[in-house]
This record gives sequence, C-alpha cells and structure tokens, in this order.
Amino acid sequence: MKHIALVGFMAAGKSTIGRAVARRLQLRLVDTDVEVERVHGPIPAIFAQEGEPGFRRYEHAAVERALSGEDPAIVAVGGGALTHEPTRALLQRRSVRVFLSASPQTILNRMRRERARVRPLLGANPTLDRVRELYDRRLPLYRESDVTVECDGRSVDEIAIAVCDALRQAGLE
Ligand code: S3P
Repeated sequence: MKHIALVGFMAAGKSTIGRAVARRLQLRLVDTDVEVERVHGPIPAIFAQEGEPGFRRYEHAAVERALSGEDPAIVAVGGGALTHEPTRALLQRRSVRVFLSASPQTILNRMRRERARVRPLLGANPTLDRVRELYDRRLPLYRESDVTVECDGRSVDEIAIAVCDALRQAGLE
C-alpha cells in the first residue's frame, strides 16, 4: 500500500479530515505544516525571513521524510505543496493523491472562522476575489490527483467515509 496524501487549497480541512481518515484506516497521520513548524518555527516567520522559496524547501524535506516511512501514512500537505515541481513529482511517485475539493466561498468561510491562523500568501483578511484568483491558478494541479472528494456541505465524518470509499473503489487502499 502506498502513502495517502491529502491535497487541496488552504483551509479545505486537510488536517482535520486527515485525522478522521487516519483513525478509520488505523494509519499514522503526518501533517507537513506541523512538521515544518516543529523544525523551523512558525510559518509566517519563515515566509517573512526566507520567502516562499525557503518555505517550499522546508516543506519538500518534510514531505520527503513523510513519504520515506516504511509503513503507509496519511500525509496532509500544505495547500501550495503542488506548486513546487520537485514536491509535486515526489507526491506523484510515492503517494495516492486525494484532492479534497472545496469551493472558494467554503474556503473563505473556514478561514474567517480560523482567524488565529494567518496564511502568509493571503494575509489576515483575505477577500473572495483573492482566494478565487489563487484557487483558479492552482486548480489544474489539484486536478492531477488520483482521487477527488467533494467537501462542500458535508461533515468531517461524511468526508472521511467518502475518502475511504473512493480509495477502496479505486483499489488504492
Ligand atoms: C500554503 C498553505 C498553508 C501553509 C502555508 C502555505 C499555501 O497550509 O503550508 O501557509 O501556499 O497554500 P494549509 O493548506 O494547511 O493552510
């Protein structure tokens, strides 16, 4: 069994759904944002001091570590991981990629609820236009995933069940 990577836009729920899927499949969860912060400190400070390229290097290393484990894991990656070609190639080679698809409006609503967590690429008060612009640019990358699961209007448990069903149906679990 390959590792299972959860990809999708910021605030799509990758970490929360990752926890629920990991529990159901009895697999380990690795959250690469948490890993980067554990090793290098807060993400906003990394962006401020080393820019996005610095963050992408650290993120790549975290993804590489997560995908090197022998036992399959659920790996929740940051929303921009696929924009970095080496990380994209690594995920394609070594994981089953599950795209957690949520609309820009759902994403914005979630971000407004999680105000404490600032995403440096969108700032403290993101607008729908800004979310949409970045979302549209990234959508073709997310669509390369092996499996897509719709998240709008569904609970965490419903999404976790849909992820497990989709993996089973595709013979990927
Ligand atoms: C980013 C998403 C964030 C985090 C960083 C960059 C992005 O993770 O990795 O702020 O470029 O989309 P989440 O997807 O968990 O918000």
